[in-house]
Amino acid sequence: CGIVGYVGHRDAYPIIIKGLRRLEYRGYDSAGVALLDENLNLKVYKKTGKVSDLEDFVKGIRLTGAIGMGHTRWATHGAPSDRNSHPHSSGDRKLTIIHNGIIENYGIIKETLLAKGHVFKSDTDTEVLIHLVEDILAETGVDLKEAVRIALNRVIGAYAIVIMSAEEPDLLIAARKGSPMVIGVGKGEYFVASDATPIVEYTKNVIYLNDNEIAYIQRNDLLIKNIDNTVQTPYIQELDLKLEMLEKGGYDHFMLKEIYEQARSIRDCLRGRIYAEKGKVQLGGIKEYADKIKNIDRIIIVACGTSWHAGLVGEYLIEEYARVSVEVEYASEFRYRNPIISEKDIVIAISQSGETADTMAALELAKEKGATIFGICNVVGASIPRITHAGVYTHAGPEIGVASTKAFTAQVTVLTLLAFYIAQVRGTMTKGKSIEYLTELTQIPELVEETLKCNDEVEAIAGVFKDASNCLFLGRGSSFPVALEGALKLKEISYIHAEGYPAAEMKHGPIALIDADLPVVFIATKNSSYEKVVSNIQEVKARGGRVIAIVTEGDTEVKGMADYVIEIPATNDAFVPLLATIPLQLLAYHIAVMRNCNVDQPRNLAKSVTVE
Ligand code: G6P
Repeated sequence: CGIVGYVGHRDAYPIIIKGLRRLEYRGYDSAGVALLDENLNLKVYKKTGKVSDLEDFVKGIRLTGAIGMGHTRWATHGAPSDRNSHPHSSGDRKLTIIHNGIIENYGIIKETLLAKGHVFKSDTDTEVLIHLVEDILAETGVDLKEAVRIALNRVIGAYAIVIMSAEEPDLLIAARKGSPMVIGVGKGEYFVASDATPIVEYTKNVIYLNDNEIAYIQRNDLLIKNIDNTVQTPYIQELDLKLEMLEKGGYDHFMLKEIYEQARSIRDCLRGRIYAEKGKVQLGGIKEYADKIKNIDRIIIVACGTSWHAGLVGEYLIEEYARVSVEVEYASEFRYRNPIISEKDIVIAISQSGETADTMAALELAKEKGATIFGICNVVGASIPRITHAGVYTHAGPEIGVASTKAFTAQVTVLTLLAFYIAQVRGTMTKGKSIEYLTELTQIPELVEETLKCNDEVEAIAGVFKDASNCLFLGRGSSFPVALEGALKLKEISYIHAEGYPAAEMKHGPIALIDADLPVVFIATKNSSYEKVVSNIQEVKARGGRVIAIVTEGDTEVKGMADYVIEIPATNDAFVPLLATIPLQLLAYHIAVMRNCNVDQPRNLAKSVTVE
């Protein structure tokens, strides 16, 4: 979910609604705002659907007030509906709350409150929290600040919340535990949001709240306390974010813009990290761990979604070049199965947002068990980079499209660098080979630009297959995770059921699906498993399947077999995932556009999943 709040000297509504539009990628089941006007009337407006539906809903209403907050929701407890939308208010005390996260013990608290006569208007855990605050106010006579602190001590779960009250017209209370929250510091005004994107156009000075901190925010004053009531010294940071990074820049969709940004994002990711002529990789973020890396027996990678696919590519690269055994785990599975980890291990979390709840929890578990933990994240200063011992940022810039594109290729780029770095530290690669590989790696951004020229061709192919109801993606070696990623992109944004499979495994199941209606996408580039993939293509053709193949420029063999081919430039095996992914992103994009799907905000998904 997305949270935004404002207190200051301007009208809050325009700031909040614009902020919500920027945060919409975090969830878009419903949206709501709360404003406190000059007559101390607390007004709440909320609506199922997108932020634009909320805007339509409040059209014509006078929306004034220099303090307010807004929320865009990704439903957890309670179906998306007007009544389950945030803000939630409590009875008499004119209190209202927005919340991101889950209150796990809400059931038991609700029972107690019901017994005391509280009446609930929604099915959410959030409403229970605001009633709890009200109850504490009524029973103890403490002020709102203290009541919120007491309430937060009683709840179990994860949250980022903002609370306001008609009885405290110059106060926003924000708190976090396990869910991000940033405070923007202006002149005579403060902003609060679940990430910096709604804040950047007003101020570059921000404070990231830590877990268990509560901020009491007034127009001219900010006090941060720990949940145990000790005063904290805020650390103001300067944002490294430009407004144009958050805009579409002439493209129809953020996703397309982000696909086209990949030459740039990979270049940014490589910058300052490669010394090709010396055959050296330098990763400043982890260099203090060189000794640990030198003696490592195994690496565990934890991640979710697209980041997990990047992890699988990393497994191939690290095992191949650095000869260290790698296990790649779904963070959600890893954390709940008593995994065997010790202080000898390095556990690496891959996460674009740096906030994914399961990934975060898996990492905390590994840390508890004594492992060294690294992060590969995109959002600077997010929760994961803050708890890790060391890490490498991907520097892809903000990714707004819910379906991850440039973040994926940047993650793969970091993992490629990491594989060569580990190889260098452990001496598993000769200097000559390092020079050769790294020289080629520096050329990848240009090859990405070359690859993007396939766009029109891919669009034409999309036109042929846009009405398919299923699709299979096949690859071998490091092209297998690319196939998984291609399938995920297609299913996420076009709602066509798609599966990725290792090409050789096809004959153990998916082959039963093959007929003239099933498009089969092969990654069939010229590499060590080329001949084997060619055989798999023949197996599909022999059964009347329709084949789209990603091939290396100049390939003639597959061209003779496949129904459609998309050429990508020749490159070393190690770098094929960086190029082969691109036509698959474009294929998903064009099919989704042709099917009139909402490309940037596919149904039911959210970009940053801060609940488990
Ligand atoms: C969500 C997003 C995916 C993303 C996954 C992991 O499901 O929709 O695109 O891959 O979370 O997110 P992370 O930020 O940890 O990479």
